Amino acid sequence: MSEIVFIAKETDPNEGRVAASPDSVKKLKGLGFDVVVEAGAGFLSRIPDAEYEKVGARIGAIADAKTADVVLRVRRPNSAEIAGYKSGAIVIAIMDPYGNEDAVAEMAKAGLSAFAMELMPRITRAQSMDVLSSQANLAGYQAVIDAAYEYDRALPMMMTAAGTVPAAKVFVMGAGVAGLQAIATARRLGAVVSATDVRPAAKEQVASLGAKFIAVEDEEFKAAETAGGYAKEMSKEYQAKQAALVAEHIAKQDIVITTALIPGRPAPRLVTREMLKAMKPGSVAVDLAVERGGNVEGAEAGKVADVEGVKVVGHLNVPGRIAASASGLYAKNLVTFLETMVSKETKALALNMEDELVKATALTHGGAIVNANFEPKKKGDL
Ligand code: NAI
Repeated sequence: MSEIVFIAKETDPNEGRVAASPDSVKKLKGLGFDVVVEAGAGFLSRIPDAEYEKVGARIGAIADAKTADVVLRVRRPNSAEIAGYKSGAIVIAIMDPYGNEDAVAEMAKAGLSAFAMELMPRITRAQSMDVLSSQANLAGYQAVIDAAYEYDRALPMMMTAAGTVPAAKVFVMGAGVAGLQAIATARRLGAVVSATDVRPAAKEQVASLGAKFIAVEDEEFKAAETAGGYAKEMSKEYQAKQAALVAEHIAKQDIVITTALIPGRPAPRLVTREMLKAMKPGSVAVDLAVERGGNVEGAEAGKVADVEGVKVVGHLNVPGRIAASASGLYAKNLVTFLETMVSKETKALALNMEDELVKATALTHGGAIVNANFEPKKKGDL
């Protein structure tokens, strides 16, 4: 009998994505799995149940999760869902384990082998499994669309018989995956785009997209990239110099999009209330880091706040706002990862806990927490 993959319907009200697409189901079937999709799982991503059935999935109910050897999800399961999975099942999702150690412990106790897609190493072999990239790319695009929606003016320059509409000035802070896509999208919409980052490697990438690079390029900047390609937390002195430069630049901008993150740390505060005050009324700031503490002062998670006359956009789960596209890429990331856990000869699951990707993403296995970063804190640890 084939092993069963269960595609869960997400329960978080802010989640429109789904962990499988018709393409990924086809691939799962090819790997030798039986696929059960919870009824309505794809509804918010515009994938009707019939589309999954057409490629060989069975439409089931939540009770079918109990029979599954593998559960694919977008988000970490809640307590009721965990209770509905069989001990020994593999559960793969964006687990958001930081600060959620108790939930990780619950999955260990239930005997689940839980894997966090966002811990995937950023190495060549794992590029097609990199959810941070696939989802951040779409978030960067969506941030510009959200900004354009809130902005009461046009983005491109328009020269008409009735006069000229000037091009909007867009400033992107943080030129990683999301920021670079935001730059490209804003350029396509005809805006005049500038961008900043603390990593020197970003300079050339920003320029190659046709945007102007703005940064304090001192000795600290030249050494700001970690071996893994991430930003470091900058010194107080650097932050002060950066703030002065940004303050002057921002006053001339119409739209600011912030995407700055530092792994394992709260998001750096880059835009203050004072800076917002210097912008023209009706300007827009989109804070993609709002769920990690926010880059913009006054940003509120899940809201469009008015801060000193600037619309500060703090939408939650931005990839989920473009769910139909985001699901397609996420589903591909998942199935590519699951494929590494399947034996080519036997077409059966053959989980190798020593594999580099498995090791990096595993949170729980065999009843225990297997990633020391997510052990529940003992009393007195804080
Ligand atoms: P991220 O989401 O952790 O951060 C976003 C951006 O914010 C980064 O570019 C970071 O340098 C910037 N930032 C942090 N503090 C800042 C500050 N104070 N001021 C301005 N900007 C600040 O980063 P993301 O998007 O995940 O990418 C980080 C790097 O990893 C990039 O170089 C990217 O090209 C690289 N990467 C490599 C991959 C691979 O090798 N497979 C895959 C994806 C990304």
